[in-house]
Amino acid sequence: MDIQAKTAIVTGAAGGIGRASAVMLAARGAAGVALVDVNETAMAETARLVEAHGARAETYRLDLSDIPATEAWFRAHGDVDILHNNAGVVSGLPQFPDVDAARLRWIIDVNITSLVTATQIAVQAMKRRGGGVIVNTVSTVALGTGFYDAMYATTKAAVMMFTRCCAPLKDEYNVRVAGMLPGLVDTPILDTTGAGGKSDWMKAVLANNEACRPEDIAEGVATLIEDDGLAGGDWLAVRRLGGKVEYQWGHADTI
Ligand SMILES: NC(=O)c1ccc[n+]([C@@H]2O[C@H](COP(=O)([O-])OP(=O)(O)OC[C@H]3O[C@@H](n4cnc5c(N)ncnc54)[C@H](O)[C@@H]3O)[C@@H](O)[C@H]2O)c1
Repeated sequence: MDIQAKTAIVTGAAGGIGRASAVMLAARGAAGVALVDVNETAMAETARLVEAHGARAETYRLDLSDIPATEAWFRAHGDVDILHNNAGVVSGLPQFPDVDAARLRWIIDVNITSLVTATQIAVQAMKRRGGGVIVNTVSTVALGTGFYDAMYATTKAAVMMFTRCCAPLKDEYNVRVAGMLPGLVDTPILDTTGAGGKSDWMKAVLANNEACRPEDIAEGVATLIEDDGLAGGDWLAVRRLGGKVEYQWGHADTI
């Protein structure tokens, strides 16, 4: 899909990958980008950057762990050409099995329940408008590496499977759903892995791996949106190695 003059929603748009994605969409000529996050101050800065590229920016404080609120918001605002389901959280401390039930529910709801809810409502709207593209931010943990946070890996594996299960929507409704699998990316989420900062396991991961920039991931998101030759349910993993961005593709019909 040509991004020019299209409307889009980006969740988790206050910083990191979501901000880079919103700015990428604006830079490629999107007419308007609806920004969704819980962090209103940082989201205002994303809106400023989006508007600097000539796109309309609207900010919405929505807590994606609140499923009825998420459903209501998407019913009111979910009629767009492009949806980037990007918001996500890590467990922090304590982790499974010491975490309480409310916290378990929270990570499941932010990472997967809200994403399915948003996709379901957006697909219905895209079906009415003749098509659309949905990109889900997954993670390379879904490929079977880096199981340091059991609930994070579990929810991301669920997002990966859901993305692949959405492949038939391309033929049925002209709605293409794709997965973006970032490797390690230098964003604020890394500081939420431990108690008041980076966990020891995250420090070790950072010491042994090169981190991508959020813009590397946004470039990959642009490719997933723009390439209408993709069948649906495809995914793109992005990593950095020796200062270079490396891509790995997966296609639902060949995995
Ligand atoms: N940074 C990495 O190394 C990495 C690697 C693979 C995948 N990812 C994924 O990329 C996505 C974006 O993360 P990021 O790295 O840019 O980190 P980030 O923390 O900068 O971005 C996540 C955003 O989601 C928002 N958010 C959190 N809980 C929310 C809620 N309940 N409702 C609404 N918004 C909420 C946060 O406020 C934040 O702005 C996530 O899904 C993450 O799992 C990140």
